[in-house]
Amino acid sequence: MTDVLPDARLLGGITRESAATPTLSSDTPITGDRYYTQEFMQREWDHLWTKVWLIAGMVNQLPNAGDYFTFEIGRESIICSRAADGRIRAFYNVCQHRGNRLVSAEVGSLHGGEFQCAYHGWRFGADGRLNWVYCEEDFPQGSPCGKRNLVEIPCDTWAGFVWINMDEGCVSLQEYLEPIAGQLDCYRMERMKRTHWVTLDADFNWKCVQDNFNESYHLPYVHPQTLPVMNEHYTGCQFDMYPTGHARMLMPGGGPGPQYTGKADRVFEGLKMELDFWELDPEPYRNDLPALRIALQQRKRELGKQKGYDFSYYSDEQLTDHYHYTVFPNVSFSMKPDGCIFLMGRPHPTDPEKCLFDMWYLTLFPEGSTEYFAQSVRDWVSIDHQVPHQRGKVGEVSCGPGIDQDVTIWYTQQAGLRSRGYRGEYLPWQERRIRFFHDNIDRYLSGSRP
Ligand code: FES
Ligand SMILES: [Fe+2]
Repeated sequence: MTDVLPDARLLGGITRESAATPTLSSDTPITGDRYYTQEFMQREWDHLWTKVWLIAGMVNQLPNAGDYFTFEIGRESIICSRAADGRIRAFYNVCQHRGNRLVSAEVGSLHGGEFQCAYHGWRFGADGRLNWVYCEEDFPQGSPCGKRNLVEIPCDTWAGFVWINMDEGCVSLQEYLEPIAGQLDCYRMERMKRTHWVTLDADFNWKCVQDNFNESYHLPYVHPQTLPVMNEHYTGCQFDMYPTGHARMLMPGGGPGPQYTGKADRVFEGLKMELDFWELDPEPYRNDLPALRIALQQRKRELGKQKGYDFSYYSDEQLTDHYHYTVFPNVSFSMKPDGCIFLMGRPHPTDPEKCLFDMWYLTLFPEGSTEYFAQSVRDWVSIDHQVPHQRGKVGEVSCGPGIDQDVTIWYTQQAGLRSRGYRGEYLPWQERRIRFFHDNIDRYLSGSRP
């Protein structure tokens, strides 16, 4: 897919047209065994993970020929590399001599060299070709060079991400991402920089993550700080589910909804950084807090250009609201006017009660910016600097205060999902994207697709 956008198509922002509600199952409970049994985990591996498009990394990690990164998914490791022809390709990270894992680094550059296996020294190019073997003349069946190349899998790019698919017969990435790619293009994520990159080695099933980001019912209890600054109530939000398995939620921001009964000062405090940046005095809205959202939208329209932002790609709602997309099966993009919270769950190699949870923040810098204050480095760094990857257990690395609240819950939820006393979920209608998510998993497990 192209990353060079036909800009005129994107002017004015995302359609808010509601999607038709799909038929949802009502007779199959979402039971706890889906979150802890080896049997269900294996079915997911065979019929889901090896059939879907997955985000492996970012295009800007591979600026030059010979640059590569590796991506862990379940028991597999995938190498994504940029070859001399400029193309990014993906390969299983396994030497074709006798099966040694070829690359152990997470990121690197070949600098004109080749991937060399540590076991018997076979060398592969960034294009996957086997170029050299020790004692090449000693193969009665013929030289393996050019023959025993790395095993390539489908790979494509969209929105600045490198996507891979372990299914040779997969649909194109473009078709897979219908219709959400066309909606999200206006955020121009390919121009955003990753300014936070955390991976948790977590003790819960990956679906706890995606379930959670498929609902906003938990906000008042897990994130009470959000109540003054967004309209989290289901009556104020829009939920859409698409036939391809992806979903979205449009949640008003820039202040609370009409159901808010708290103090105006809490609203002003919660929005302080944003109000200061946009030079907006909130006092006139003390007695009409929902009007603050509209005032903030107008202010951003007035000052956007001067502050270095091109907001012509956004609708007024996008200037304040949270456009939250859950991409089947394992990614959420929570879009803000100047950034994206990126959230992803990945299966553990062997344990259904563990996963990798990735939290990235992608920042769209104002035109002309050259550096920013990086929390992880605690210093000003160039916007071209790759933020370091922090990986660890809960408590060792932080996903930021808001997401850390979600993480805490997933630990206690995983414990409860295992209980003999858990009878399966009982969902309010506003959590219907969870039902939709599990219905789509079941479709994959039965061999069909959404
Ligand atoms: S297993 Fe890689 S060279 Fe032998
Ligand atoms: Fe949350």
